[in-house]
Parts: sequence; C-alpha cells; structure tokens
Amino acid sequence: MLRNRQRDPVPDRLIVVSNRLPLVLNQREDGQWEAKPSSGGLVSALVPVLQRRGGIWIGWPGTTDATEFQVGPALEQVSSDYGCTFKPVMLSEEDVNGFYFGFSNEVIWPLFHDLFTNCNFEPTYWQTYQEVNRRFAAVTAEVCDADDFVWVHDYHLMSVASELQRLGVPATTGFFLHTPFPPLEIFLKMPWRFDILSDLLAYDAIGFQTLRDRRNFLYCVRALFHANVEGTGSVVRLRVHDSLGEDGRTHIGKEIAVGVFPIGIDFDRLANTAATDQVQQRARQLRADLGDRKIILGVDRLDYTKGLLNRLNAFRYALRRYPEMHGQVHLVQHVVPSRREIPDYNQLRLDMEGLISEINGEFTESGWVPIHYMFHSLPFEELVAYYVAADIALVTSLKDGMNLVAKEYCASKIDNDGVLILSEFAGAAAQLHKGALLINPHDIEQSAERIHRAFDMRIDQRKQRMRLLRRTIRSQDVHRWADAFLAASAKRRPSPSAVAGEYLPRAY
Ligand code: UDP
Ligand code: G6P
Repeated sequence: MLRNRQRDPVPDRLIVVSNRLPLVLNQREDGQWEAKPSSGGLVSALVPVLQRRGGIWIGWPGTTDATEFQVGPALEQVSSDYGCTFKPVMLSEEDVNGFYFGFSNEVIWPLFHDLFTNCNFEPTYWQTYQEVNRRFAAVTAEVCDADDFVWVHDYHLMSVASELQRLGVPATTGFFLHTPFPPLEIFLKMPWRFDILSDLLAYDAIGFQTLRDRRNFLYCVRALFHANVEGTGSVVRLRVHDSLGEDGRTHIGKEIAVGVFPIGIDFDRLANTAATDQVQQRARQLRADLGDRKIILGVDRLDYTKGLLNRLNAFRYALRRYPEMHGQVHLVQHVVPSRREIPDYNQLRLDMEGLISEINGEFTESGWVPIHYMFHSLPFEELVAYYVAADIALVTSLKDGMNLVAKEYCASKIDNDGVLILSEFAGAAAQLHKGALLINPHDIEQSAERIHRAFDMRIDQRKQRMRLLRRTIRSQDVHRWADAFLAASAKRRPSPSAVAGEYLPRAY
C-alpha cells in the first residue's frame, strides 16, 4: 500500500462515503461472492486517493441479493489491494429503485445536467432518498470518531451530514459534487429545493468542479437563505444567517468553506502503464488490426449527457463534407453499460445503435467500416492501449462535471502525439481550453470541421498542444485535488486561500 501520511495536510482518519464502492459483488454458481471493479469517474478518482492515504470507504457493494455477513469476506479479501477498509451499506431492491434509479438518477442527475425535461419528480423517490441517506449516516456513525474527517461524495448522498448532525456525530464533514451544479432557474424547479440546499448547508466544507458550478450554488443559496460570502479565491467562506427550510432546520452563524477543486487523475499510473511493453505492443496490434488508419476514440458510459448522438452526427457530417477522410479514419467507440433499468438509457442505446448502423451503411467500402462500436467495459490495460493507439480523442459531453477520459487520454500520450477534441461543456474545458480543440457539440458543422482539423493537423502542432495539456493535467493530479480539498476542510485551517495556493483554475 502506498501511504504517505507525512504529506497529508489533514492527519485525522479519512472516512470516505459514496454510493458506489469501487467494486460490484456478484454471486458465482458455487454460491461464493466475487468482486469485480465498478466503472465511472468517481471510483477512478477515489481509488488512488485511498490507496495512498488509507482509511475507511463506506458504500453500496452493488448487489441487493446479499446480507452484510455474506459479502464481508469478499470485501475483506480485496481490501488490501485498495489500501483501505470497506464498510458496506446494504440496500434492498426497493431502496435501489427509489433512491438510486429514482431520486438520484431520474431527478438529480438530469436536473444537475440542465436536462430538466428528463426529470421524473415522483414524490416517493424523495422519501426513499432520505431513508437511504439516513442509513448511510447510521453506518458512518458506527465507525466514526470525533477526530475523523468524513468526506461524502456526490449527488446520491447530499443529506448525510444533516443526518449525522441529528445523530449527534461531532466529526468534521465535507462534500464533493462530481457533477455540475445547475443555474438557479433550473434548480428552482425541483420540488425539494429547500430541503436539498438546507441539507447541503450542514456540511463544513463543500467542493465543486468549476467556478461556474460554485457560482450557481452560491446564487441558489443566496436566493433561498439569508447568507453572505466572504473572501475570494479558490475557497470562500459562506456564512448562513438563518434557515427558511420547511422543517425549520437552522444554520444560524454557520460558516462553510466552499471551494473549487477540479478533480484530477492518477497521472503517473496512466503514463507508467502506457509506457509498458505490453501496452505499447497491444496498441500497435490494435492499430494494425484497423489497417494502420487514423483512429478517433470515444470512451463513455452509456449516458445521455455524453452527447453520443451529437458525436455520431458530427462524424457523419465530416465524412460527407471531407471525402478525403474516407478509408483513412475509424471512429472507435467504446460504450460502457450503465443504469440499464432507466428507460431513457435503454432508448439512448437503441437510438445510438440505429445511428451507427445508418452511418456504417452509408459509408462502408470493401475493407473499411468507419465506426467500430463496442458495448462493454474494458480492463484498465486494454483501455490504456486504446488511448495509446488513438490519434484523436473525441469528447462531446452536453454537460459534464469534469470528464476524466479526456485527461486519461492525454496522460497516456507519452510521445506527446495526439489531439484532444473537447466539448466546451465538460468541466475539463476550464483547465484544458488552451491545448484542446474546443467544440460546441450542438454545432455539428463546427464539430465536423474540428474533427477534420485534428485529422489534418501537423505533428509539430499536435505535440505542442499535447505537451501543454499534459503539463496542466500532471500538475493538477488527483492527489493534489485531495490535498487541496482536505486542507480547505481542516478544522483549524490557517487561511483558505493560503492552503489552496495556485489551485484556482481560470473561470470558464
Ligand atoms: N472507465 C471504466 N470502465 C471502462 C471504461 C472507462 O471505469 O470500461 C473509466 C474511465 O477510465 C474513467 C471513468 O470510467 O476514469 C469515466 O469517467 P468520466 O469522468 O469520463 O465520466 P463518468 O462516467 O464519471 O460520467
Ligand atoms: C458519474 C457519477 C458517479 C457515478 C458514476 C457511475 O461519474 O458522478 O457518482 O458513480 O457516474 O455511475 P453509476 O450510476 O454506475 O454509479
């Protein structure tokens, strides 16, 4: 285990709480439970942090068919690989339907990505969300000491600190939102707007991915509560003077550190993996299998926020407009299965697969199929081999908290040769706007033009841009992100702007 406690700005024990643990448990035919890695940006970011710092990770092990007693040994078996102790929160099928699929992914996820029309404001979802947040808080309270730092992650668990307060747990609490935070006019549409904000104000520190997200949050707080903001820089102090929450919860005099902490990746792990003989050899093999043509790569969870249809339409437009690309380029699209029980996700899969077959039907020639599509999750080394093999990465999010795939692609380009096409609506654009080719994914003509520009870009320009991207991503890696958040959340911090240093990204 790679611990480096001397570097820690916060010496107390770390308790991470997230809906997902980094693994999903499945029952084998022989009745034993086995752990497989789970997908997504939250897990990718937290694994290296806990491997370095150690601590306890509380979360749902991805199954509704087992008891804590049954999954215990499987979790214990893998815990030394992850450098932390896992504490499962067991959920029933009903919990998962109302809390995870329902409130988290049919209300908050679309709302926070500005997709209000995808929301299903079903009142029972909110009840289950509160009950399950209470359960996460109760499990946290069982293992938590007064000196611990409880770091809660993402939109599934916005009410945990308020439940901990109710239970009288004195530990300091922090919350990091991996998704965007929506503008006031969208946030206000949510029936539980007071409750959610009031619950968030129970945390001692709150972190956002970009300045825009924090601005939206502070705007909402000041619209619904009497509060003022002190300080400037990457961490400000929010003082709440009263509460208008419908249940009369009060935050009088409370001071909350509210910061901008763009999440990073484990840069060294990506770069070192990319440099191994096996990965280099596999990348050569992948290129050879695709006729040594240029590769445009997409890697996304199946999600309507990722702009998959916009991407396909832009690629089709590029093939129509630039015939010199025919037979010279492949779009290799990996789509990772996600949230399958939600109707919008199923529909997206059908729409996407229909469009892919239309495009392949229009352009395929003997010996060349333009789009290679795979619906699966990838082992880490295989993913890195694709990053290494690809000439261009295409990120078309309609809205995205950060987008770690964009950063991982650049970290893997150890020869500095590659082009990142990045949606201006991904949080990563705030940091990477100089080296990437930015696109508005709604503008198909512009996106197609950028695809062609990347396809045609001279090697010196490619390298110059990629060097810049890699420098930024390396200097703001995931350990720096965790250090900055924990330092800003420490009980006796000297001054928030002093600890956060130069961390503030350019406003976007
Ligand atoms: N990823 C994964 N399994 C895969 C392919 C990718 O776990 O089969 C990882 C990928 O390496 C990245 C994360 O999933 O770290 C996706 O994060 P991103 O921020 O791009 O989007 P999110 O899925 O969190 O919305
Ligand atoms: C995004 C969210 C994470 C979530 C991940 C995967 O990154 O911010 O909280 O874990 O997607 O989604 P899932 O629903 O499978 O956990």
